[in-house]
Amino acid sequence: MSTPSIGTPLPRVDGRAKVTGAARYAAEFTQPGQAHAVLVTSTVGRGRVTAIDSRDAARLPGVLAVVSHLNAPRLAYRAHKGSIDPAAGERLHVFQDAEVRFFGQPVAVVVADTLQQAQHAATAVRIGYEARPPAVRLDGADRAAVVPEAMRPGARTQADTARGDADRALAAAAVRVDATYDIAREHHNPMEPHATVAAWHGDRLTVWSKSQFVVNEAAELAAVFGLPAEHVRVICPYIGGAFGTSLRTWPHVTVAALAARHVRRPVKLVLTRQQMFYATGHRPRTHQRLALGATREGQLTALVHEGTGETSRYEQFIEALTSVSPMMYACRNVRTRYRLLPLDSSTPTYMRAPGESSGLFALESALDELAVALQMDPVALRLRNDTARDQHTGLPFSSRSLRACHELGAARFGWARRNARPGSMRDGRLLVGWGVASATYPMIRAQASARARLLADGTAEVEAAASDMGPGTYTAMTQVAADALELSPSQVRFRLGQSDFPPTPPHGGSMTMASVGSAVHAACLAVREKAGRSASRPVEGEATSAAGPEGQRFSMHAFGAVFVEVVVDPDLGMVRVRRAVGAYGAGRIVNPRLARSQCIGGMVGGIGMALMEQTVLDARDGRPVNASMADYLVPVNLDIGSIEAHFVDERDPHVNPLGVKGLGEIALVGMAPAIANAVFHATGRRVRELPIRLEALV
Ligand code: MOS
Repeated sequence: MSTPSIGTPLPRVDGRAKVTGAARYAAEFTQPGQAHAVLVTSTVGRGRVTAIDSRDAARLPGVLAVVSHLNAPRLAYRAHKGSIDPAAGERLHVFQDAEVRFFGQPVAVVVADTLQQAQHAATAVRIGYEARPPAVRLDGADRAAVVPEAMRPGARTQADTARGDADRALAAAAVRVDATYDIAREHHNPMEPHATVAAWHGDRLTVWSKSQFVVNEAAELAAVFGLPAEHVRVICPYIGGAFGTSLRTWPHVTVAALAARHVRRPVKLVLTRQQMFYATGHRPRTHQRLALGATREGQLTALVHEGTGETSRYEQFIEALTSVSPMMYACRNVRTRYRLLPLDSSTPTYMRAPGESSGLFALESALDELAVALQMDPVALRLRNDTARDQHTGLPFSSRSLRACHELGAARFGWARRNARPGSMRDGRLLVGWGVASATYPMIRAQASARARLLADGTAEVEAAASDMGPGTYTAMTQVAADALELSPSQVRFRLGQSDFPPTPPHGGSMTMASVGSAVHAACLAVREKAGRSASRPVEGEATSAAGPEGQRFSMHAFGAVFVEVVVDPDLGMVRVRRAVGAYGAGRIVNPRLARSQCIGGMVGGIGMALMEQTVLDARDGRPVNASMADYLVPVNLDIGSIEAHFVDERDPHVNPLGVKGLGEIALVGMAPAIANAVFHATGRRVRELPIRLEALV
C-alpha cells in the first residue's frame, strides 16, 4: 500500500505544463481556417441604436462580415437558468434589438481574416444613437431600492430577517455604535482575458472558452441557439485566474458562436482589457448600515445590518451581503435587511467571497468601533461573543475554530505587544497600526460526478467536468484519487475542463474540494471495488455524490482570524501593509502547500479590496473611466509585505466524506476590515469607505 498523499505538500501536477507554456488557455486554441472577431461596444450608457453604417468597414481588406441586430438571426434563447444566473430577470439577448442598456454593451461584431484587419475595421463601423442619461449613481440607494424577488417571504433566503427586537435593544444598549459603510464597484481583472474560439460542424458547436463552469456554458449555448444539449461541447483545460468572472456565460461567448455561424468558419474572439470592464460581471457597489449594542462587559445585545447592492435593470444579482451577521456571534436581538438598486448597468456577479467579504467589512469594522468604545481588546471582544450554536438556524456548528484561529493568529503575530492607544506605535516618522478581524465562509457542497478508469499498466485516469482557476484542482483531485485507489499520485492522471466529462457544479463558492473531491473519492472507491471482482483491465467506475441530511443537523462554516500591520505616512496619507498573519480552521487540509498559496492569494485580493481596487464610473454616461490595468490598481509584490497563512488542526466528521470545508475564498474575507482597523489604530481615523484612499487620511 502506498503512503497517503492527502495532507502532503505535493507540488502542482500541472506546474511543469504551466511554466513551459504547454498549458493552453482559451485564446491560445486555433482552428483550421479560423477568422477573428472584434466587438464594437456602445459609447452611450442608455438609449437606442438608430443607425449602423458598416459600408466602409465592409470594404476593408480581409473583412468577412459585420454582424449586429440589423442582420443577426433571431436566436432561440430558450429559457435557461444556471445555478450561477440571477434567479430573477433575463440575460442580455445578443443582437436581438436596438436597445442599449449599459455603456460598453456589444452592439456589433466585425469578423475578418486576421485580428489586425478586424481591429481596424471595427474602428470604421459608425453607430448612431438616441442617447438618454443613464442612472448609475448609488446615492439615494435607501429610497429607490427594491426587495429582491428571489428573497420574498417563503423563499429559502430572506431579504428581511429578525430575532428578538434589535431596534429596541439597540436603543436600550449601554454602549452603541451605528455607522454606514460603502464599498466601491470592483472588477475581477484576472491575468487571462476572456476568450472564446467557436467552431461549427453542421449543427454541432464546439467552443474553447474561458469558463469556470463548462457544463453550464454548454447548456446555455444549446438554449441560446436552440440546439440539443449534446450538440454543444465546451473545453477549458486551464484558467489564468478568474475570481468569479467566468462563472457565467457572458454575451461575448454567444457573439463568437454567432459570428462563426455567420461566416461559416471557426472564429476566435478575445476581449480587450477595456472590454472586460463592460459585460463580464463585477463586485456590486454596496451601501450598508451596521449598528451594534452591547453591555459594558462587551456582550452583544443588539445587531442591525441593512445593506443595499447595485444590480442591472434586466437582472437581479443577489449575494450574501447580510447573511453572515445573524450567525457569526452570539446575540439575542438581530435584524437584517437586504435591498437592490437597479441601475443602467450590466449585471454584477460573484467576485472573491461575494457578499461575505462586503458584509463582514461592515460587521468587523463595527466590532472594532465597539471595542474602542468599550476600551476592550478587539480579540477579547470577539471571543466574548463566541458561540457554539448558529443562532440564526438554531443548529450547532459542525466545528468552529474561531477561538483557536484568534489564539494561533495572535501568537504568530505577536498581538500581545500591541499598545491599544491609536497613534501610539511608530516607526520613525511612520505611524504603525495593528488591526484584527474574524473571517468566515460557508461549507458549500453541491452534487458532482466523476469517472475513474484503472488501466492495464497499473495507472489510473480520472475525469470530471471541473475547473482549476488556480487553487490547484488538478493536484488536489490527483491526491484524493491516489489515496482512494491506493496508488501514488504519479500513477494518476486527472483530467478536467470538458463539458462531456461527468458533470460538476460551478468552480466557485469554494465548493470544488467538498463537491468534486467527494465525487472523485466515490468514483475511485467504486472502480476499486469493481477491479477486485475482475482481473481484466481496463475497469471503469463512475459515481455521483451529493450532500446528505447533515445540513439539517449542523451549521457548516470555515472560520478564521486575520492580523495586519500597516504603516501610514502621516504627511502623505499613504498606507502600506507590512505584514499579515491569517489563521484558518477549514477542515482537513488536502495539500498544505497549495492551501497556503491559495490563502496568500486571497489575502492579496483583500489588500486590493481594502486599499486599491475601484471601478470609477462617469455619472454622465456610465463609462468606466479607469478601464485599464494602468488605472485600475491591483496589489503588486511591493504592496503586500510579508504574508503568513496558518491552519488550525480541525477534524470535522460531519461536513462531507473528505472532511474538507473549502479554502477558495475565506482568506479574503477578513482582510479589508483588518486593514481598516489597523489604519484606525495607526491614525485614529475611522475610514468606512473602500478602497481606503490617501485623501481620507490627510
Ligand atoms: Mo468565486 S467569486 O465563487 O469564483
